[in-house]
Amino acid sequence: MHDRVDDELETALDRAAGFLRAAERLAVLTGAGVSAESGVATFRGAGGLWEGHRVEDVATPFAFERDPTLVWRFYNARRAGLRTIRPNPGHYALVALEERFGPARFALVTQNVDGLHRRAGSHRLIEIHGRLLGTRCSRCERPETPDETAYPEGTVPPCDRCGAPLRPAVVWFGEALDADHLEAVHDFLDRWRSKRLLFLAAGTSGAVWPAAGFVDLARARRAETWLVNAERADNAGRFDHVRQGSSGTLLPALFRE
Ligand code: OAD
Repeated sequence: MHDRVDDELETALDRAAGFLRAAERLAVLTGAGVSAESGVATFRGAGGLWEGHRVEDVATPFAFERDPTLVWRFYNARRAGLRTIRPNPGHYALVALEERFGPARFALVTQNVDGLHRRAGSHRLIEIHGRLLGTRCSRCERPETPDETAYPEGTVPPCDRCGAPLRPAVVWFGEALDADHLEAVHDFLDRWRSKRLLFLAAGTSGAVWPAAGFVDLARARRAETWLVNAERADNAGRFDHVRQGSSGTLLPALFRE
């Protein structure tokens, strides 16, 4: 016997499944919440600290200039942490959706740097905040290299081209996104404007721009907009439909049909 909450959820899921069937293109935006059930800490957690650090001390260009050793120690720990985590059902639901829509009609834009979408099998992926397992030079144009290893404790690796310190290939607070990534997002939203577009955001607090504004770009293209999040996101009011709950449960349930 279903209670009222179950019935409401079922109605919302049926409605979402209906939109999904009718949609001809799907753009998804994910944030830290989608990885929470894999055991990755979100950013705006208890006390405003991120794994025990203030973000200004470890995730800004200024922090890196002031204390690159501390920043590398922090990122090495996060890299090491990736070894013990696995994608969760939310990630796999998005892989299934990519397969259903096909690569040309699906785009997954993620703010996550943990690589779990790729490990789950997503291909049509735009990692707008970079990759934890990537390294680039803090000064020259040396191409980013994939980097499975942590650097020895207390060291800052030098660039083999110019000698400047290497840095993790993530976007830090106060840095601009890669222009190619933004263009790719716009391109996808603008392609085949006549085709029905569904925009789905999941596990993101809507606090960080420009990602928080992607819902507005989608609305301007007459997309149907959905949000799945554990708590009320800052930009929740700008979505047509908001479903509160965990992405590891709701994403597979939304798309089971
Ligand atoms: P946040 O930590 O700001 O927000 C995560 C959201 O996920 C919160 O609103 C939680 O309520 C929600 N959440 C937690 N567990 C969930 C679950 N199991 N299912 C669904 N939702 C859940 O993370 P982001 O929005 O990703 O940027 O933050 C955006 C950016 O801020 C990050 O990419 C990072 C940070 O600054 C950079 O590093 C540049």
